[in-house]
Amino acid sequence: MTPAHDLDGYSRHAHLPPRSRERFAPVPVSGAPRGELVRTADGRELVLRGIEPGDVAAMQRCFKRLPPQDVRRRFMHAMSELPATMAQRLCRIDPEIEAAFVLIDETVKPAELRGVGRIFVDIASNSAEFSVLVEREWTRIGLGALLLQRLVDECRRRGLSEIWGYVLMENRPMLQLCKELGFVAKMLPDEACTAQITLKL
Ligand SMILES: CC(C)(COP(=O)(O)OP(=O)(O)OC[C@H]1O[C@@H](n2cnc3c(N)ncnc32)[C@H](O)[C@@H]1OP(=O)(O)O)[C@@H](O)C(=O)NCCC(=O)NCCS
Repeated sequence: MTPAHDLDGYSRHAHLPPRSRERFAPVPVSGAPRGELVRTADGRELVLRGIEPGDVAAMQRCFKRLPPQDVRRRFMHAMSELPATMAQRLCRIDPEIEAAFVLIDETVKPAELRGVGRIFVDIASNSAEFSVLVEREWTRIGLGALLLQRLVDECRRRGLSEIWGYVLMENRPMLQLCKELGFVAKMLPDEACTAQITLKL
């Protein structure tokens, strides 16, 4: 029989009866990925899934691998570390107003986070602000486009009218990626180095 702690990753006393929702829940096949398998053109494999509270450590390790330029491009300012409280906040989303997808490399131990895309919904304007990040060694193989397209699909699923984000003007890769997906860039009047990019849905 499968030990109780293999069912959902949390160990508990084996003599306790399982909770009702677990008794009727499908048991994951041991070793099966919890998301969609993504095979890149150059033969590497990642798992695409929703972010989870347990991704905090992987997110902090990912942050440590980022060059300062990518940190600035993603967070719009320099940061030397990702504080634990912030990482926890980023991994424990409020599904009512947030969605976040991660690309996880399960071919290494511990599994590493190679990319993340997220939206924050602004209910008042029926729109969502997005951000995307792909680790340098995994760029130029379509992962940024994959994440961004997922975010666009998620916004459509929620019936939002627009998805938008801030991008530094020097961030040519992101501006190019957004252009390819049909986003329109607009200069911000009081911020010479930042553009707002928007896709009407
Ligand atoms: C911007 C970023 C997300 C792109 O991710 P990516 O996985 O390389 O993107 P893709 O491989 O899907 O590229 C899609 C298209 O974007 C454009 N693009 C991506 N990187 C580019 C680069 N370095 N130079 C020019 N165009 C680039 C290309 O048109 C590319 O299509 P192509 O490879 O067929 O030419 C990634 O570089 C990154 O995480 N940067 C740091 C964080 C950041 O800037 N986030 C955006 C703020 S919200």
